[in-house]
Amino acid sequence: MFSAYSQLREKGVLGLNQRNVHFISRYNERRLFPLVDDKLKTKLMAGEAHVNAPHLIGTIQYQHETRDLENLLKGLREFVIKPAKGSSGKGILVIVDRSEDEFVKSSGAKVSLQEIRRHVSNILGGLFSLAGKPDIAILEDLIHSDPAFFSFSYEGVPDIRFIVFQGFPVLAMMRLATHRSDGKANLHQGAIGVGLDLATGAAIGAVQFDRPIEFHPDTGASLKDLRIPAWKDMLELAAKCYDMTKLGYLGSDIVLDAKRGPLLLELNARPGLAIQIASQTGLLHRLTHIEEGKAPKGFTAQQRAEYALKRLSSL
Ligand SMILES: Nc1ncnc2c1ncn2[C@@H]1O[C@H](COP(=O)(O)OP(=O)(O)O)[C@@H](O)[C@H]1O
Ligand SMILES: [Mg+2]
Repeated sequence: MFSAYSQLREKGVLGLNQRNVHFISRYNERRLFPLVDDKLKTKLMAGEAHVNAPHLIGTIQYQHETRDLENLLKGLREFVIKPAKGSSGKGILVIVDRSEDEFVKSSGAKVSLQEIRRHVSNILGGLFSLAGKPDIAILEDLIHSDPAFFSFSYEGVPDIRFIVFQGFPVLAMMRLATHRSDGKANLHQGAIGVGLDLATGAAIGAVQFDRPIEFHPDTGASLKDLRIPAWKDMLELAAKCYDMTKLGYLGSDIVLDAKRGPLLLELNARPGLAIQIASQTGLLHRLTHIEEGKAPKGFTAQQRAEYALKRLSSL
C-alpha cells in the first residue's frame, strides 16, 4: 500500500494529514457533520432538496415498537433495515424475498421474524453505532441494481463514491460487493474498488484490499470492461449534494437503480483516500485547480458536472 502511495506522489496524491488539516477542517463546518453522520437526517434532507434516494418505509426508535414489527412488515416482500448511524456496512439487513414467516437475505440465507426483531433491537441498543450510542432503525426500499452491473457485483448492490469539492465532482470509484464483503459494497469488508474515468464513467483500474485486481473473484467478470450508464446524471446528483449540505469536501455515494435511476445512498464528511489508488489518479491537481479559483464560480450542479466531465477529468 505504501509503495502504491509513493508511486502516486508525482501524480498529486493527497495524504491523510493534508486531507484532515487542509481540506476537511477548512471546508467542512463541524456543525454540519450530524447531517451526514445520520442516514435518517440525510434522507429527510434529500427529500426536501429533491435529491432522489431510496424511499423511507418507516423508522423504529423504541424497543417496545419491535413488538409491532410484524405489522410494519406486513405486505412487504423486500426491504432493507439499517442503523441510522451505522458505517462500513455493519448492521445492514437486506431482505430480497419472503414466504409466510420466513425472510430471505441477499445471500439466500433465511431469517425468521424473531431474528429480525432481535436485529432491530440490537440496532436500537447501539450495537452498530459509533461509541455504542442508542440508534434508530431505518426501514427502506430495496434498491434493484441496474442490469449493467449484474456480472460485476456479487449478491449486493454496488455504489459509486464521488469526491465532491466545492460542488465539483473530482474523483469517482465504483465499489463492488464480493463474497468476502458479504454482499455489501464496503472496501474494508473486502469489496472491490474500481476507479472510474471522470470523463466517461469507464473503468481505469481496480483494487481489493488496496491490491490491484483484474477479475471479480466470484463472478469472473473482467473489471476493465465496467462502464457506468447514465454517467452525466450520476455526476449531477453527486454535485447537487453540495448544494444540499454545504459541505465543501464531501463523499457522495450514489447507486443506479434499474427503475428510478441514480439515487443518493449516503454522504460522508471524511471520505477515504483509497479512491486514489483505485483510479490511479491523485486528488491534488483537481482540488488545487478549484481552490485557486480556476474553475468558474456560481455554476449550477449541472454545469459543475459538465465542467468535471470536460475539464477536471484531464487534470
Ligand atoms: N436499500 C438498499 N438496497 C439494497 N442494498 C443496500 C441498500 N442500502 C444499503 N445497501 C447495501 O449495503 C451497503 C452499505 O450501505 P450504506 O447505506 O452505504 O451504509 P454504510 O454506512 O454502512 O456504508 C451498500 O453499498 C449496499 O451494497
Ligand atoms: Mg456506505
